[in-house]
Amino acid sequence: MSHLLNRDQILIAGCGDVGSQLGLSLVKQKHQVFGLRRNINQLPPGIQGIAADLSQPDTLINLPQQIDTLFYAVAAGARDESVYRKAYPEGLKNLLNALQQQGIKLRQLFFVSSTAVYHQEHHEWVDESSPTEPESFSGQIMLEAEQIAINSGIPATVVRFSGIYGPGRNYMLGQVNRGIGYPTDPIRYSNRLHRDDCVGVLQHLYQLSQEQTLAPIYLASDDEPVSLNEVSDWLAEQLDVEITDTSARRTIGSKRCSNKRLKSTGYRFKYPSFREGYPQLIQSFKN
Ligand SMILES: NC(=O)c1ccc[n+]([C@@H]2O[C@H](COP(=O)([O-])OP(=O)(O)OC[C@H]3O[C@@H](n4cnc5c(N)ncnc54)[C@H](OP(=O)(O)O)[C@@H]3O)[C@@H](O)[C@H]2O)c1
Repeated sequence: MSHLLNRDQILIAGCGDVGSQLGLSLVKQKHQVFGLRRNINQLPPGIQGIAADLSQPDTLINLPQQIDTLFYAVAAGARDESVYRKAYPEGLKNLLNALQQQGIKLRQLFFVSSTAVYHQEHHEWVDESSPTEPESFSGQIMLEAEQIAINSGIPATVVRFSGIYGPGRNYMLGQVNRGIGYPTDPIRYSNRLHRDDCVGVLQHLYQLSQEQTLAPIYLASDDEPVSLNEVSDWLAEQLDVEITDTSARRTIGSKRCSNKRLKSTGYRFKYPSFREGYPQLIQSFKN
């Protein structure tokens, strides 16, 4: 009986890679999970699809009558200002309006944001209280969307993910496999989060939200900010290839993301650094 009492109705808007894995793990805990996206035929069984376009308010009509928790995990499909606007601030606003118009009251909202909101580029440590003055449109638009979530009147938590890596995200592996790595100078720090920890963090915070009020923002990144050249050198060693070309470049940003606040809530990373997260990915890349 007790598990039935805890059976929540959960909506994941932008139910893509992270959203679907999160959804499946919530379904396992007996929650009812709805996944909203434009192409619902790609949703795994167990997640109830809602076909809608968040940038088109007139498509947001068939929402479930009750939703306890909303995860907003939409990703803009292209690096374009108007696409970003539609995916983040406008999409979120449209969905919150639709929920309000349909009399659906959320208990908790999670907005998945990104560490692109930080402007720091001199290897500074950043945390949830660090200034955010991004020059990029992506960072500025994400900040706008964060504010919409925080000022929504619903208990809201923003989760800022750093660079996601994991199954199917083989860009750097492919590059290193062709002998291309990052230079030691200038040094560029990077911050990463395994896809399974994206899911783990959201699930952990969701669980915590049942017991206590969450902070408005959590930075989610693994334990080890690391220079890009250290990662590419390590990958080369694992792949047994030689770096012959250090022309790989990242032109903006070099910061180190602190996960202290997240870890103080009791979260333990499945993959504390790239050294633990990459071996499985290397295996499947080789096969
Ligand atoms: N990639 C990174 O390194 C990184 C870093 C920091 C934060 N993040 C954030 O992490 C989250 C999860 O990313 P992910 O890798 O799971 O992304 P993903 O697999 O690309 O999933 C995003 C989903 O959003 C849906 N979507 C996009 N526009 C939509 C619209 N107008 N209406 C309805 N659905 C829409 C897409 O489905 P349809 O195309 O079927 O609509 C897609 O399923 C996102 O919030 C992203 O911003 C990513």
